[in-house]
Amino acid sequence: MASVANIGGVVLHSSFLGNKLKFKPLSLSIPLKKQSNTRIIYGEMLRFAHDLFVGVGVGLPCTVMECGDIIYRSTLPKSNGITVTVPGVILALGTLSYLWVTPGVAPGFFDMFVLAFVERLFRPTYKKDDIVLGKKLGEGSFGAVYRVSLARKPSSKGGDLVLKRATEYGAVEIWMNERVRRACANSCADFLYGFLESSSKKGAEYWLLWRFEGEATLADLMQSREFPYNVEALILQDIQDLPKGLDRENRIIQTIMRQLLFALDGLHSTGIVHRDIKPQNIIFSEGSRAFKIIDLGAAADLRVGINYIPKEFLLDPRYAAPEQYIMSTQTPSAPSAPVATALSPVLWQLNLPDRFDIYSVGLIFLQMAFPGLRSDSSLIQFNRQLKRCDYDLVSWRQTVESRAGPELRKGFELLDLDGGIGWELLTSMIRFKARQRISAKTALAHPYFDREGLLALSFIQNLKLQFFRATKQDYSEAANWVVQLMAKSGTEQDGGFTEAQLQELREVEPKKKSSAQRNALASALRLQRKIIRTLNESIDDLSRKRKSLWWSRWIPRGMK
Ligand SMILES: Nc1ncnc2c1ncn2[C@@H]1O[C@H](COP(=O)(O)OP(=O)(O)OP(=O)(O)O)[C@@H](O)[C@H]1O
Ligand SMILES: [Mg+2]
Repeated sequence: MASVANIGGVVLHSSFLGNKLKFKPLSLSIPLKKQSNTRIIYGEMLRFAHDLFVGVGVGLPCTVMECGDIIYRSTLPKSNGITVTVPGVILALGTLSYLWVTPGVAPGFFDMFVLAFVERLFRPTYKKDDIVLGKKLGEGSFGAVYRVSLARKPSSKGGDLVLKRATEYGAVEIWMNERVRRACANSCADFLYGFLESSSKKGAEYWLLWRFEGEATLADLMQSREFPYNVEALILQDIQDLPKGLDRENRIIQTIMRQLLFALDGLHSTGIVHRDIKPQNIIFSEGSRAFKIIDLGAAADLRVGINYIPKEFLLDPRYAAPEQYIMSTQTPSAPSAPVATALSPVLWQLNLPDRFDIYSVGLIFLQMAFPGLRSDSSLIQFNRQLKRCDYDLVSWRQTVESRAGPELRKGFELLDLDGGIGWELLTSMIRFKARQRISAKTALAHPYFDREGLLALSFIQNLKLQFFRATKQDYSEAANWVVQLMAKSGTEQDGGFTEAQLQELREVEPKKKSSAQRNALASALRLQRKIIRTLNESIDDLSRKRKSLWWSRWIPRGMK
């Protein structure tokens, strides 16, 4: 039943409309040619919206029922309500949950177009001349960090702010800190302002300002022989009246772990993966009596694809997960922002990029439990041993436990407290496959953090534990299959697998003996892939340079 609608002189044909829709003509001040274009666009949009609504069964009753002409309808009781149908409701709910699921397309739009805008109107701004440099706190490859104070408000001698003068990754760090301040301010150091300063001698630099949170990072605190007792006074209101020993240390480590996971859950829920979680990047905030995350220069915002460059990584090898990449390396580069936004929930579920950070937190947990693994050299040695055990913590334990010295034994004893609940959590964080690692949110609900009845697990706690064990089972095969299928379909010119994936396959099934012929073929294939990859990377690099900094035009320029 075709029908006709007239919009501003545009006639719409619709097979669903039972009568003519009449609209007032659009403003005539638009030039004729433009007007007709605009009309066609409006017309198309209206038709699309109408068909969509009718198609899913949500719409005005008559359009849904297709009940014929106006005379018949006029005899029916008049209703302006919306008819709700089961498929319509399912589709609406599905769309809504898609838009809200991690990393959150809908909250992302609200954040970018409303919150960011409003915040910009009200927040205080700073410029170079406002800042008085103090002591240098650190210097990395991409910038230096100073303790500073404000010229107009000379505060305590040391300065109550921190300034980072960054070159390469400064823009990314400003973006991430602003996102965090709006979405999960308690997760990271309190960020004040960031701007591009082009008058410095070294060329353009990004200046970032935070509130000074405190003197010590978790790395500093862990280096002390007193750890974890030196943290106890800082984070727990009252000193526990337990005697010094494993139980008391366990309580303190529990609290630190809970704070780390809470901070990380905040970041992950808003679609940010840190990628450089390590004790040096965790600061103790004296004001909040809690640990906070710093140094977001390597972070990736998966909501809009910022700083997500699959083939590039700036990892600290001591704390990096074995996969090294947070996303499938088959994705050549971040899609454009609207596409990345629309696809972000799918990409997130397929890759689970947050589990990269979970591995690093797992290593921090390990270091806190085992005093013998707190030094760099011992951590590197542990990483080597774990790799030899195919990243299976249980077999690592079997290998080392029989000949363990007192420091290692102490760690196992601590984790074995309360029916081995700490060991259970640790093994669910340090796993080869990202998909089998626990998420920050689920970890926070782990029975390890239950304070009551830890020594004798109650029936409910046991049930919870069984549930966690069951959910840890390997359910990754189906997901892997989908990822591989998607990966191969788009990358024929890459020859199917990347070097990283070949490596992964090699590590999963390393035992097969291969003939000399097969080896030669494999080498030839590898060489071919290497050449193609290098070419692709150069092209990626070019296109990335063109589009990767589209968002940095929002960063304010420093004023004189
Ligand atoms: N908000 C803050 N409050 C107190 N100290 C801070 C703050 N931010 C950074 N710091 C100190 O500055 C150091 C360096 O900061 P950050 O990790 O962000 O920079 P970086 O580029 O990684 O430099 P580095 O390579 O020296 O770590 C930290 O280890 C910490 O001691
Ligand atoms: Mg750092």
